[in-house]
Amino acid sequence: MQKSTFGRVGDYTIRGAETTDIPSVIGVNAATLPEHYSDYFYYEVLNEFPGTFIVAELGGEVVGYVMCRTEYGLSVIKRFGIARKGHIISIATMEAHRGKGIGTELIRHSIEEMKRAGCKEVFLEVRVTNDGAVRLYRKLGFAVTGTMNGYYKDGEAAYLMAQTV
Ligand SMILES: CC(C)(COP(=O)(O)OP(=O)(O)OC[C@H]1O[C@@H](n2cnc3c(N)ncnc32)[C@H](O)[C@@H]1OP(=O)(O)O)[C@@H](O)C(=O)NCCC(=O)NCCS
Repeated sequence: MQKSTFGRVGDYTIRGAETTDIPSVIGVNAATLPEHYSDYFYYEVLNEFPGTFIVAELGGEVVGYVMCRTEYGLSVIKRFGIARKGHIISIATMEAHRGKGIGTELIRHSIEEMKRAGCKEVFLEVRVTNDGAVRLYRKLGFAVTGTMNGYYKDGEAAYLMAQTV
């Protein structure tokens, strides 16, 4: 099957993830984040929300990914009413490839796809000490809408960040 290509950043190709990418995505996650998921979870997210599971590839190697899902529930921005929300579950770029615009493009394209899927707002959780990621999200239009104490297994708090799209 032809892989859907969203574009390029420098030498990197930004494209839709395929089932065969999942082992590499799991590898990127393991190398970059303390939050891991069961293998099944990645396949399930790709199966249910293929349009917003996007990878960055260089020479056939996956060096970054974003995975998202669409949820219905209380608006994270208005705090009342039900909204269709895009949730950025996880995003990472391998350390050697950071600062080249990959994270920006992964998020930009995933937001476009979530909008296309009818989402009116997009949100994510991020460690309160993850200054680089928080800066990136602010740059892309997210604002902190709440703090969730003890959100992570090690007890660290998360910022809830969101934007209307
Ligand atoms: C956050 C992350 C995905 C960014 O990926 P990236 O490919 O480097 O992103 P980009 O090159 O598009 O953007 C870099 C931007 O992010 C910010 N940023 C990211 N890391 C930074 C750091 N260590 N110091 C300062 N700013 C940083 C800056 O605003 C920068 O923008 P600029 O280049 O215009 O100054 C990457 O740092 C990463 O994988 N981190 C580990 C995993 C992680 O924390 N994921 C987020 C969990 S919520």
